[in-house]
Amino acid sequence: MSEESLHHLSPVWTHLSDEIIERGEGAYVYTAGGRRLLDFTCGIAVTNTGHCHPKVVKAIQEQAAKLIHAQINIYYHQPALRLVEALRGVVPPALDTFFFSNSGAEAIEASVKLARHATGRPGVIVFQGSFHGRTIGTMSLTTSKTVYRLRYQPLMPGVTVAPYPDTYRYGWDPEAASQWCLKELRHLLHTQADPSETAALLIEPVLGEGGYLVPPPSFLPGLRRIADEHGLLLILDEVQSGFGRTGKFFALEHFGVVPDILVMAKGLGSGMPISGIAARRELMDRWQPGTHGGTYGGNAVACAAAAATIHVLQEEGLVDNAARQGQRLMAGLGNLQSRYPVIGDVRGLGLMVGVEFTKSGPDRAPDPAAAKAVQARCLASDLILLTCGPYANVIRWIPPLVVTGEQIDTALAVFESALSA
Ligand SMILES: Cc1ncc(COP(=O)(O)O)c(C=O)c1O
Repeated sequence: MSEESLHHLSPVWTHLSDEIIERGEGAYVYTAGGRRLLDFTCGIAVTNTGHCHPKVVKAIQEQAAKLIHAQINIYYHQPALRLVEALRGVVPPALDTFFFSNSGAEAIEASVKLARHATGRPGVIVFQGSFHGRTIGTMSLTTSKTVYRLRYQPLMPGVTVAPYPDTYRYGWDPEAASQWCLKELRHLLHTQADPSETAALLIEPVLGEGGYLVPPPSFLPGLRRIADEHGLLLILDEVQSGFGRTGKFFALEHFGVVPDILVMAKGLGSGMPISGIAARRELMDRWQPGTHGGTYGGNAVACAAAAATIHVLQEEGLVDNAARQGQRLMAGLGNLQSRYPVIGDVRGLGLMVGVEFTKSGPDRAPDPAAAKAVQARCLASDLILLTCGPYANVIRWIPPLVVTGEQIDTALAVFESALSA
């Protein structure tokens, strides 16, 4: 293999490390040279079942040997039907009809197209700090960093941004922040985005790229109420928070909210590119045949991987493990927070945990340099962690759901030595 080829990859991709990874197993990835790294990024919250889970690999291999591509407009195939059956066991029962695509952005686009088509209204309201993808449409819905829209203007019109209860940044009591944001949303519907021209509210139930922010308990139920009052659809983007990540199958279960459209990707396929949306039959029936689709959506091998992924999560109790190991991780990080003042906040649900680095002082100013230095030291000690947040000052912990207590403890020890260094 010629490493000279590295120079022919587009520079638009940023790189956390220069390693060339040869194989992965569970929570680890390995280089050809034999270096083993503890991968607490999961390929950005994708490999929830761990790298190359044997049952997922087997499902992929068996399906690839039978049929790789069976275009869904031309004929049906068994893996898509098996996936529907598996998904019906884990999504809210009312959301009984599915559309499949390949990436998270594509599924978000599908949700917005369905919402516009079904309601006949053009507008979408998103929330400050959200990340929904990088296509022209989804970039227009994304407000977690300006870099995602830099020199790509003009954006898609019809998008209005409402405040998100970022309680740590505001320095407010969570409930006060929640009520203020709900009030501002009502104000916005009265002053900027008339409900008669608004199709949907679109939100991540736990903000991902925007900083791993968990909303106060009253916020999502409040959005559901406002949506119902005005006939708006509520779209939940569970691309990052889904498939056991938060210690429940979907993060929506923490808040007792059922959306009109649920958006899924990442963890769904254990690394095979597959995404989808789920909605009520009655809503899907308003999507005129032929007005949306794609060549690969619902690819047979990807569907087989996704069905196997759901079975593995269920059979191996991985969602409960995420809740359990998440508690262990939060306790360990809470302990470090009490000893290292550079850690301003530790927050999260299950194995979706953020550690925010801030400078000392009452204004909680972001400290991206500290986050970057700690991340680099962890990498040098074979622990891979990602950052997030508008200022890249939040280290996010996204280990696979197969992670063991021992691996969590190892990672915490590496993190502590990076902090003390
Ligand atoms: C919440 C959320 N929505 C949408 C996306 C876009 O997914 P993809 O990169 O597969 O297009 C992401 C990706 O990070 C995400 O985290």
